[in-house]
Amino acid sequence: MLVTALKMWNKIKKNLYASKIYFVEIFIVFVLFLFFISFIYPLSLTQFISLSLLTLLFLFILLYIIGEKRKIDILEVKTIIESIRKNKFNSAEEIKLTTSLVDLEDEIKSMFLKTRSDIENLKKLEQVRTEFLGNVSHELRTPIFGIQGYIETLLDGAINDPKVNKNFLIKAARHSENLNNLLNDLIDISMIESGEMRMSFRFFDAKEYLESIVNEMKNLSETKGIPLILGEIRPNLQLFGDKVRLKQVMTNLISNAIKYTDKGKVEILIVESEKEGRIIVKDTGIGIADSEISRIFERFYRVDKVRTRAVGGTGLGLAIVKHILEAHGTKITVKSTIGEGSEFSFVLKK
Ligand SMILES: Nc1ncnc2c1ncn2[C@@H]1O[C@H](COP(=O)(O)OP(=O)(O)OP(=O)(O)O)[C@@H](O)[C@H]1O
Ligand SMILES: [Mg+2]
Repeated sequence: MLVTALKMWNKIKKNLYASKIYFVEIFIVFVLFLFFISFIYPLSLTQFISLSLLTLLFLFILLYIIGEKRKIDILEVKTIIESIRKNKFNSAEEIKLTTSLVDLEDEIKSMFLKTRSDIENLKKLEQVRTEFLGNVSHELRTPIFGIQGYIETLLDGAINDPKVNKNFLIKAARHSENLNNLLNDLIDISMIESGEMRMSFRFFDAKEYLESIVNEMKNLSETKGIPLILGEIRPNLQLFGDKVRLKQVMTNLISNAIKYTDKGKVEILIVESEKEGRIIVKDTGIGIADSEISRIFERFYRVDKVRTRAVGGTGLGLAIVKHILEAHGTKITVKSTIGEGSEFSFVLKK
């Protein structure tokens, strides 16, 4: 008997506790009600006390019922949140709340979906990071093994063989140059991606600028026997950008054009419009299939691994180009036909 009464009292306490946020409102209703009644019917003191007690009892029962309902609702929400935390749901559709909480159901569902997509993105990032590390180690291995191999052979006696010693040293030096290029590219990529690369935008003379780049690259094109032609550029044409970073873009695009062209020519052109100048690097090389065009800007992506190995390159060039041009608020456009050639271009403000 005592136990039942105690249980009952505990339940009442819990329900009243759950409804405590409405105490003030209920108290205001109570006072207003009594005030209103005594205003309409003048009551004797006994009547007033009885009415007050009755109203209090009624409000007390009301609070009890509200408390009970709130407790059920809170328990339902708690159970759902706990199930989400314990990964018990496979899809948002499995999350169901009673009609009174239907608004909350939509919110909980979108929170569930958001958390899930955040986790998936993190997993993807983790995968990209692992892939990146794998690629970097793989790319580092080639030049390091090369240098190591030649030096060991030289130490094992080849140093005294005049037929090979110089040749081996030249090869080791070439590998160390590749290693240096790769590290510089990696530093650039990491600086751009972490937002550390400072840009310095200025107007510059397009003709003078491209002439000096083309002159620097003449060596490469002559070695390959591919003419590097700079088209007509209007004197005094001023373009806006970071000269140093754009030089990296141009060097990458021109060296690609030369690398992936076996016959014909490489041309650098500027097409002017009212407010912009479009810089074009055009070759008559091997071309790129449509399905590959979106991928060539990915880090380490090379269309033909065997060929690229022969001509050198790690597949970071275009990733850097893309980032630098994005920092200029512009983007690269590619037109290409297999066997006929490719055209890479971007616009700069003038
Ligand atoms: N002008 C082009 N003609 C044909 N294919 C090209 C051309 N430019 C780029 N590609 C393809 O896109 C790939 C990615 O180019 P990217 O410049 O990023 O790398 P890479 O030239 O191989 O190496 P890196 O520039 O790092 O030395 C190349 O491996 C090549 O397959
Ligand atoms: Mg390249």
